[in-house]
Amino acid sequence: MISNDIDLAANLLKQGEIVAIPTETVYGLAANVYNPEAVEKIFIAKQRPKNDPLIVHIHNIRQLEDMVGKIPHNAAVLFTNFWPGPLTILFKNTQKKVPEIVTAGSPYVAVRLPNNELTLKLLGKLDFPIAAPSANLFQKTSPTTPQHVEQQFGDKIPMILDGGECQVGVESTIVGFDEEDEKTINVYRLGGVTVEKLKEVMYDFNIVVKDGNYNLPGNAKLHYSTNKPLILGDIDKLLSENKDKKVGVLSFKKRYDTEFQFVLSEEGNLQQAAQNLYKGMQILDAMPVDIIVAELVPNNHLGKAINDRLIRAAAK
Ligand code: TXA
Ligand code: MG
Repeated sequence: MISNDIDLAANLLKQGEIVAIPTETVYGLAANVYNPEAVEKIFIAKQRPKNDPLIVHIHNIRQLEDMVGKIPHNAAVLFTNFWPGPLTILFKNTQKKVPEIVTAGSPYVAVRLPNNELTLKLLGKLDFPIAAPSANLFQKTSPTTPQHVEQQFGDKIPMILDGGECQVGVESTIVGFDEEDEKTINVYRLGGVTVEKLKEVMYDFNIVVKDGNYNLPGNAKLHYSTNKPLILGDIDKLLSENKDKKVGVLSFKKRYDTEFQFVLSEEGNLQQAAQNLYKGMQILDAMPVDIIVAELVPNNHLGKAINDRLIRAAAK
């Protein structure tokens, strides 16, 4: 059920139910972080393996302190600059207050304060943070509209809180501080906060992109997949190689003379392209095509996160 009733969403969460919620990045599938049975429902609904930990979404810094204890100074500098927003920070799980099912055995708790008015209001009505992975079936594309959540889950979840279309369109950037060197910030997943922006704001820190070679469960090569095979490369070449097939085209800004296509941003705007990425993948997937062909976008700013998702979507 798609609804904008925040009180209903709050009551369901208090009762140990799961609710899909809007965030600025993608929709999440939420449960009370301190209720392991509720959190387990997320894993069951998503068909997600239990070794893949969940991000905790908080309403305020007091909730963060309750979970992880004393906050390191460097982390405080980071979140003062980027929260609310699409940045997830790994904190040492020293207090062990967060149930094992949320952290999946990781020595860290991943936390973010999302920038979505509706969800912040919802969190304000709860006396617990919520654990929420993206609201998609395991390895499938992340939803950026309530309708896309509904298509994947139907009535397997009691409620989808309707916040309209997500603004950022790709998941949060995941960062953590180096154990050996407190002036180093490791980037484990490229996302809504760009590496350029991190470098600009945290100018006296070393920003190291670990993405890809770092062994986070959620960083599996195969991820964000469409149901139809997605092939990356030069679109003109791919079109001429696949004349015998019905081909869907996912292009950055160029419109092609073909029936099934989605243009991420005709102006070539990376922010718009990011916002449209999963929607475009999902629209093409639903068209009567055999394959989807796509091209990489310029590899800077949000383009890095877009390309990361496209490469994983194309992985076999
Ligand atoms: O934008 C986002 O981050 C969205 C919205 C809903 O907030 N959430 C999201 O969650 O993308 P999910 O579950 O699709 O990806 C979370 C990833 C995990 O796969 C894992 O790589 C990393 O975050 N992660 C979460 N908790 C962790 C932990 N305790 N230690 C290490 N990595 C963790
Ligand atoms: Mg996900």
